[in-house]
Amino acid sequence: MNSKGFRKIYEYIHQLFSKEDEILKSVNQSTIRNFLPQIGIRPNQGKFLQMLVMLSKAKNILEIGTLAGYSAIWMARALPPDGKLITIELNPKHAKVAEKNFQSAGLADKIKVRVGEALEVLEEMERENIGDFDMIFIDAHKPDYPKYLEKVIKFSHSGTVIAADNVIRRGEVLNKKSKVDRVVGIQKFNQMLSDRDDVIATIIPNISRSGFDGIAVVIVK
Ligand code: DHB
Ligand code: MG
Repeated sequence: MNSKGFRKIYEYIHQLFSKEDEILKSVNQSTIRNFLPQIGIRPNQGKFLQMLVMLSKAKNILEIGTLAGYSAIWMARALPPDGKLITIELNPKHAKVAEKNFQSAGLADKIKVRVGEALEVLEEMERENIGDFDMIFIDAHKPDYPKYLEKVIKFSHSGTVIAADNVIRRGEVLNKKSKVDRVVGIQKFNQMLSDRDDVIATIIPNISRSGFDGIAVVIVK
């Protein structure tokens, strides 16, 4: 089957299982209206993350890479009433758009945006003793994925679920000679997941905006 066929299957699954309500549609519109990059996760991926939140019975979620808040809304909707989500965003303009979207979604009391370079924010959080997350979603600067992983494992406990977007990227990861820093970063990240004996991990292939892609799913032992 060619990629057009895969897209049709994606649409079929999407129509059945991940229809967007008005809030999610308005989040997508907010990215267009505010000229944010069109690189957010797709509905099927949102539904998948939501189910991971439910399976892990997460009360505390960490997200690296907020953009307009689309993925955070999918995940936060599966939180219990006292659940919380912290999402880290580099770009203050994106953070503002996201905060507005969280308000519209009625989730502003559950979601806190921390603005800054993710590795620096993670260090700040370490100093503030904020940690111990049940679910972590990584979807930010690809060359830094290996460093994100080292850091977030410190914020984990046995059973924490970690998911990471864009770990296949149209098969770019198959090119062992690649010198593209985002590809090298993802290759190293995937290899770390394979090598580490404190986690179990796999990659679920999927269709993202950029085409054929995958989400890594990790459980901390
Ligand atoms: C792109 C897609 C993503 O999901 C992401 O996190 C970053 C970039 C892209 O299509 O360029
Ligand atoms: Mg992504």
